[in-house]
Amino acid sequence: MKKVTLEDKHFKLFIESKKILAEIDQLCSEINAYYANKKPIFICVLNGAFLFASELIKRFEHECEVSFVKLSSYEGINSSGIVKNLIGLNENIKGRNLIIVEDIVDTGNTIDSVYNNIKTHEPNSLEVATLLFKPDAYKKKIPIKYPAINVGNEFLVGFGLDYNGIGRNLQDIYIIEENK
Ligand code: IMP
Ligand code: MG
Repeated sequence: MKKVTLEDKHFKLFIESKKILAEIDQLCSEINAYYANKKPIFICVLNGAFLFASELIKRFEHECEVSFVKLSSYEGINSSGIVKNLIGLNENIKGRNLIIVEDIVDTGNTIDSVYNNIKTHEPNSLEVATLLFKPDAYKKKIPIKYPAINVGNEFLVGFGLDYNGIGRNLQDIYIIEENK
């Protein structure tokens, strides 16, 4: 069993990269079918979503654009609930078909804030694609239409997800080992 230690926390292998990529394949075939002639703009939420966004977007087989935004509300291993401003949205998105690309939706505070901010720009459509979704932790109402993988409430790292800024480069996803 593969294990990693990041600072003071121990993690063990949870989802292998092969399985992650297979789930992204499947998710993107759905997105390919629906957005074929809609020239979507993928809006990648930095930092965590950069790896998922690259895997997702290179599987999209039709015309599209890509944009990057940033909004940070998370410190350590608990969601702080603090909501900050959205920066980096330069494109004219009015009337366009947008897909927000996130690494993980936990309580939903972050995605809710990103979604509502983007909504004020009057897109034609707005959906959420996320690599990981924690349905039991989710407290918001906005629909998470495109989750690649549903998970429990445990803290995860790898494939873009970090613990205190580290672990994003891990190819597999690891789960925290409690009591260690
Ligand atoms: P939310 O606002 O509670 O939905 O949390 C979303 C943000 O918290 C994500 O974009 C991540 O940056 C971070 N986050 C939530 N759960 C985890 C986790 O299990 N591992 C790493 N980061 C997480
Ligand atoms: Mg994030």
